[in-house]
Amino acid sequence: MNREKERKRMKLKQLEGLLGDLDQFSDPKVELEQYPTGPHITSRMLYTAENSFGDVSDRVVVDLGCGCGTLGLAAALLGADIVIGIDVDTDSLLTASTNAEELEVEIELVQCDVKHLDLRGQVVDTVIMNPPFGTRKKGADMDFLRAALKVASRAVYSLHKTSTREHIKRTALRDFNAKSAEVLCELRYDLPQLYKFHRKKEVDIAVDLWRFVPGTA
Ligand SMILES: C[S@@+](CC[C@H](N)C(=O)[O-])C[C@H]1O[C@@H](n2cnc3c(N)ncnc32)[C@H](O)[C@@H]1O
Repeated sequence: MNREKERKRMKLKQLEGLLGDLDQFSDPKVELEQYPTGPHITSRMLYTAENSFGDVSDRVVVDLGCGCGTLGLAAALLGADIVIGIDVDTDSLLTASTNAEELEVEIELVQCDVKHLDLRGQVVDTVIMNPPFGTRKKGADMDFLRAALKVASRAVYSLHKTSTREHIKRTALRDFNAKSAEVLCELRYDLPQLYKFHRKKEVDIAVDLWRFVPGTA
């Protein structure tokens, strides 16, 4: 079996194991809400996108706010055709590049603020993201959702605090032209206690895994 086919048949546990070895933010920036998505959540998120909806393998996938590349690299391991990781922070992009080399997968990395995203006609099938929750910069989560629904033609997978569920749904359908907005599951997110301001109740929170279908332009 060739390497590409092997990737597409990658087992969940194997994917989770590979993601567990990735380098993560060495000096996380509070204002950008830099915390990694753990291997358990990432592997389930990408596996669901692939196995339940066919949104990853042979697709063009954008990882918005890619940080150290975890979500995009998982997509590459599951056989995405092209993966583009986008982040405003160059330090994270350097780590993402090292992670890609270690895994021997290809990922294009672009330094850009999500508010000024312009992919110059690049067709994008699927966007995957774990955006800032918007706790440090109000509305940051919505900036990501707006941009994702603009560039994706097939689906957007995203994590948002469960407490914002109604707001997310209403805004996606009413303001961002989404055709559908569905919570696939609710997860416990173990936020590493990276920052001094995190109190206990802030490090173990409920998050929704969403799948949005973009409307036509
Ligand atoms: C919660 S972290 C998620 C990182 C990574 N996707 C992961 O799942 O491990 C959010 C990421 O969004 C990036 N970010 C924050 N504001 C941004 C902006 N305005 N434009 C682009 N990236 C941004 C941060 O640098 C950070 O890497």
